[in-house]
Amino acid sequence: MIFLTSMNFSSMPNYLKRFEVKWKGYYKWACKDYKWLLMFFLSRFKFIRNLSTYFFCQPHENPKNLPEISCLESIEEDKIVDFFKKDGFYSGINLPSKLVKEIHDYVDTSNCYGNRNPEFSFPYIEKEIAEKKYNEIFIIGDYPNVGQDCQAIRQLQTDPKLLEIATKYLNAKPVHLSTKLWWSYATEATLANRLNFAQVFFHYDLIDYRSIQFFFYLTDVDLSSGPHVCVLGSHQNKKLTHQLSFFTGRSDQDIINYYGTDNLKFVCGKAGLGFVENPYCFHKGIPPSQKNRLMLKIVFGVNTYQNYRSYQN
Ligand SMILES: [Fe+2]
Repeated sequence: MIFLTSMNFSSMPNYLKRFEVKWKGYYKWACKDYKWLLMFFLSRFKFIRNLSTYFFCQPHENPKNLPEISCLESIEEDKIVDFFKKDGFYSGINLPSKLVKEIHDYVDTSNCYGNRNPEFSFPYIEKEIAEKKYNEIFIIGDYPNVGQDCQAIRQLQTDPKLLEIATKYLNAKPVHLSTKLWWSYATEATLANRLNFAQVFFHYDLIDYRSIQFFFYLTDVDLSSGPHVCVLGSHQNKKLTHQLSFFTGRSDQDIINYYGTDNLKFVCGKAGLGFVENPYCFHKGIPPSQKNRLMLKIVFGVNTYQNYRSYQN
């Protein structure tokens, strides 16, 4: 099957391979913010996340002067939240074509950072030239400041409908944590290199005690262009060993054995397709095999942690 990429990896257990490339970041974060360390250990437990409603939420103010009219197509926020609570996932929050075009206009006139490294800056259409110039293989091309630099994305991350969904689900004023826009390139790369970009193992993200992330495809995505995969319902239903383990990465076979293939949701659709996911659901991005994928992610939580933007993927 298309997602069985991790089965050909080395003899080291998969969850250790993922931890091997991430532990330095975890260590840096733990040193900077003890609140993050506490959250990292505790938030994996569902009962702690439920308790957080009473103990960990702090009042936060959203930015003033939010737009009153949503730029999103007609959606039913209550219905979305109901589906989302059950599955930890909902697909069908679509962007108008005008907004998709505006984001592409930004991309066409901006440089991205190869593999998120500011030293590898290039226009995305010059990827092959940049790879030769820097002697690197680029798996992703990231636009680091889109939340400020792109007017269309700035508008989207304060969209009243998006914030209403986040508020109803989080049961608190949503705190904007990050906005990311990036290309995932159809390229040859080792599985070890892909580990840095959440493309190999199913995992869940320890972002906050309660969090919600909105994704939008900016290019058409099919099975050959790196669809996102979510394990429906896995935010509520995790094996005890998945919760007790320090490691959040899991092999395809481990996931299939416990959840079955019926609960794997491969997200394919046209440019503009939006979906919302609970980061505690197991998920991953399939490496694109033929066509590049441009994707936007906007994340909300209920607390802030120092230098959050450099942490999660
Ligand atoms: Fe992730």
